[in-house]
Amino acid sequence: MAAVRGSKSISTAPPVAHTAMLGLGVYRPERVVTNAEICEQIDSSDEWIRTRSGIVTRRFAANDESAVSMGVQAGRRALEASGIDAARIGCVLVATSTHLTQTPPASALVADALGTGGAAALDVGAGCAGFCYALGLAADLVRGGSEEYVLVVGTELMSVTTEPTDRTVRFIFGDGAGAVVVGPSETEGIGPVVWGSDGSQAEAIRQEPDWLDFAENPDQKRPWIKMEGTAVFRWAAFEMGKVALRTLERAGVAIEDLDAFIPHQANSRITEVIARSIHLPESVALSHDIEETGNTSAASIPLAMEQLLRTGAVQPGGLALLLAFGAGLAYAGQVVTMPPLATGA
Ligand SMILES: CC(C)(COP(=O)(O)OP(=O)(O)OC[C@H]1O[C@@H](n2cnc3c(N)ncnc32)[C@H](O)[C@@H]1OP(=O)(O)O)[C@@H](O)C(=O)NCCC(=O)NCCS
Repeated sequence: MAAVRGSKSISTAPPVAHTAMLGLGVYRPERVVTNAEICEQIDSSDEWIRTRSGIVTRRFAANDESAVSMGVQAGRRALEASGIDAARIGCVLVATSTHLTQTPPASALVADALGTGGAAALDVGAGCAGFCYALGLAADLVRGGSEEYVLVVGTELMSVTTEPTDRTVRFIFGDGAGAVVVGPSETEGIGPVVWGSDGSQAEAIRQEPDWLDFAENPDQKRPWIKMEGTAVFRWAAFEMGKVALRTLERAGVAIEDLDAFIPHQANSRITEVIARSIHLPESVALSHDIEETGNTSAASIPLAMEQLLRTGAVQPGGLALLLAFGAGLAYAGQVVTMPPLATGA
């Protein structure tokens, strides 16, 4: 092997001043599931679900769809919206909790299916906060000069991970995926991430039992997602307003200057409580995508961004506050400029 000649210092890629989301694509499964259909298997009602959560319908994936296949669809549309060829993507980050095998990661499969030609690939497990975690990582990868373009995907298949007869969970969740291409920009499009976790409340959203327990005691129920809804509600309602204000402060943005506030679509009542607690001006568009989408965990922020862009409530380039929170309990927020949307996304 030839010796490497040169000085003893290590070279690094030059940093990049600014980053932005260059394109957004989403995938919503075809099948619309009404509250009436959910109530065929749980003791509840359309009215209870609407008033307690804001959810009217959600989408469930078809049997042949997966977190990977939905992520690929969303990723393809994000690439189209950004005008960046798949081969230029240096890293694919996939935020998901519902890729059903632990190995290999979903990201490697998504990177391959999109034709990136061997991009680095990493899954991000941060529950419903996953998309904003991955977006923060992607922005820093680009800023640090590690990669020019990073694809961030949030994708979830909640319909097969929530027990159809569990009325504390089943009505909340839906399936779908969203993706953005992150790359260099002339002006800043992704503010500093404000993030954290509270593992002391890890039991509030969990999988139960674990797979080994299940394998050793096959008489018990298979693993499902379980949730202490009231604990999650309280944590989100009390803590997330403070995180939203810290995020605005770190980005140096006044709340009046926002065009949109896009919190994780966990529950319409949580959204309203947070909006009130930060004194969100009425002029700022507030996402309520949950009505038609349910809570899609790590996919909820990009899906909600798409809904505001598609309906014209906010334009590409508009200033938005993203705020995601969930299992962990983990949270992450950043101020961003809204990306262009793929036609037909
Ligand atoms: C799940 C959630 C909607 C429940 O709403 P809630 O107001 O906290 O309701 P509670 O759990 O206190 O239950 C209130 C009553 O409704 C009943 N109830 C619970 N689920 C029900 C359902 N699906 N249908 C009808 N009644 C239901 C309870 O038994 C209880 O009855 P009681 O008053 O007679 O004891 C709410 O806690 C929530 O949205 N939490 C956050 C969930 C979330 O965002 N999770 C995703 C992670 S980000």
